[in-house]
Amino acid sequence: LARPFVKIVEVGPRDGLQNEKKLIPTATKAELIRRLANTGLSVVEATSFVSPQAVPQMSDAKELMKMIKRQPNVSYPVLTPNIRGLMSAKTAGAKEIAIFTAASDAFVQKNIGRTIDRSIEVFKDMARIARENGLRVRGYVSCIAGCPYAGKVDPDMVTSVAEDLFRMGCYEISLGDTIGVGRPHEILAVIQAVSRVVPLENLAIHCHDTYGQALANIYASLEAGIRTVDSSVAGLGGCPFAKGATGNVATEDVVYMLEGNGFRTGVDLEKLVDVGEWISRELGRPSESRAARALMAK
Ligand code: HMG
Ligand code: MG
Repeated sequence: LARPFVKIVEVGPRDGLQNEKKLIPTATKAELIRRLANTGLSVVEATSFVSPQAVPQMSDAKELMKMIKRQPNVSYPVLTPNIRGLMSAKTAGAKEIAIFTAASDAFVQKNIGRTIDRSIEVFKDMARIARENGLRVRGYVSCIAGCPYAGKVDPDMVTSVAEDLFRMGCYEISLGDTIGVGRPHEILAVIQAVSRVVPLENLAIHCHDTYGQALANIYASLEAGIRTVDSSVAGLGGCPFAKGATGNVATEDVVYMLEGNGFRTGVDLEKLVDVGEWISRELGRPSESRAARALMAK
């Protein structure tokens, strides 16, 4: 029987690096993206076109896009919150953008200075303009299992926001447990609710490992029929607008689990571990990936 394919959306260069205090040379970011694309990953989220005051680490987005040597079967989406970012991204050669809101007003306010409703209005315009310009649009819903400012989040709220993003034309909605508080039954409740209005094949799961629940939550999501998983090489990252949030689940750990568990990812784990070790050295700290550490110790 053919093993089902799981698409991994590598978010290390964006979600992973956005929270780094020290400015990382643009050439290092470009090299990270090049190495990641060489592992067989089909999506590498490259950077974000946002306010440089909001996220200084991403202020070299334009220069970085120039440095990326695109591989034919790899997409390099970029995050952007407004029409200005959308147009800069297009000018810089982006073919796909990601827009991002949340299931909590408090988080959206801190992150992009809007209410959820206002964010949806802006993103509707952006989705239309993106379409007119031939760009694909991915949508993020953050705080699906809890908000750092408002606490508990209702799955119905996640559903309503995800539906808005889907209706405006996002081809994929990534459900983000931004602060990693969710447990498998909570994540399942969200997926069940959302999948009533957005088909499973248009959903992705985006887990942060803050409470050590990420792999369990991903496994539960796969059982529920999700086939797209966001992750970050070496477990890099954290959200500047979610205090204490750790990185996304490490891509190495996800690939290790999937490949040994009846799925196919197209990713070469050995190569990926090398990339994780390389970027961890560049950043001067050990990798957060347990699989990488174990494989390196062999
Ligand atoms: P604002 O201050 O209300 O807006 O910020 P503004 O229009 O007054 O702009 C402020 C300054 O930024 C101005 O500069 C603008 O020109 C500039 P100044 O005139 O003061 O020198 N600016 C820009 N520069 C370059 N490109 C742009 C751009 N836009 C404005 N596109 C704004 C509102 C939305 C712009 C701001 O809050 C922002 O950029 N926020 C982005 C924050 C961000 O990137 N967050 C990422 C974290 S989300 C996340 O990680 C979750 C996720 O991973 C999923 C999950 O884990 O759940 C996706
Ligand atoms: Mg994230």
